[in-house]
Amino acid sequence: MSSDHIALAVHGGAGVMKNISEERKEMINQKVSKTLIKGYQMLENGASSMDVVEFVVSEFEDSPLFNAGKGSVYNSDEIQEMDASIMNGRDRSAGAVASVKKVKNPIKLARKVSEKTNHIMLVGDGAEEFAKSIGEIIVDQDYFYSERNLKRLRKIKANAKLTYKSIVQDRIGTVGAVALDLNGDLAAATSTGGMTNKMPGRVGDSPIIGSGTWAQNGVCAVSTTGHGEFFIKYQVAREVCVRMEYQDKTISESSEEILNELKTINALGGLIAIDKEGNIAMPFNTDGMIRGSISQKNDVNVEIY
Ligand code: GLY
Repeated sequence: MSSDHIALAVHGGAGVMKNISEERKEMINQKVSKTLIKGYQMLENGASSMDVVEFVVSEFEDSPLFNAGKGSVYNSDEIQEMDASIMNGRDRSAGAVASVKKVKNPIKLARKVSEKTNHIMLVGDGAEEFAKSIGEIIVDQDYFYSERNLKRLRKIKANAKLTYKSIVQDRIGTVGAVALDLNGDLAAATSTGGMTNKMPGRVGDSPIIGSGTWAQNGVCAVSTTGHGEFFIKYQVAREVCVRMEYQDKTISESSEEILNELKTINALGGLIAIDKEGNIAMPFNTDGMIRGSISQKNDVNVEIY
């Protein structure tokens, strides 16, 4: 199968954006635009959707601007534990890692789990041992140090009145990408530091195939961001494709409907999705979502609100 409609969409998390300075917003805008254009050029030059979503997510993991990789938020023990997953729509092969602490690019490791093991998910020490054995870059935890994120954790811990919901609403990070390549192959990837003040060992939706990430050729590819516990319960990424496949919904109808339903139970977040023709949907039920898209149907589009 081949496609005339290459397309790429990315996100850098959903949440309340009003506390982000204009300077930081500009830096985010520039990083998202630059990465999007580079990723799209890769697609134009024949790169696979898997290579492109891995590239985009690893670029965001290397930036302190997003809650993934270098910019990951702290758990209640003041340690970053990261989760990531990737899925290939061509054959549903998938890889995921959870609760890794020293892997520079969890998304690269997730792809290696998919391609070099018989498993789909590795966690904690086992994932890090595997990373070392295949030469993935391991870093000291100092690499992830962030005064900003540490201050935020300590503020939350000092304010007993803050509910989990208000913490979620205030800042939901997570990064992701979905792509359609010239072969008609869809792919999706998601990476996160999770949620500030999470319990050590807590795993959210991002590494869960069907919740945070889903790709299915001929239907759609999805990456989500939001309050992970709800996104697991409602299997949000897969649900977008299910409603398209079995209820003949368009990608916009399906994904907006789900986000609206989640809002009624105070499940906050957003998603990016691409269908087999390169149509893109990027709905969210929060104040804003860092997002960008580019396709033959639409020029570069980067937005925060
Ligand atoms: N959606 C990211 C998380 O809940 O960990």
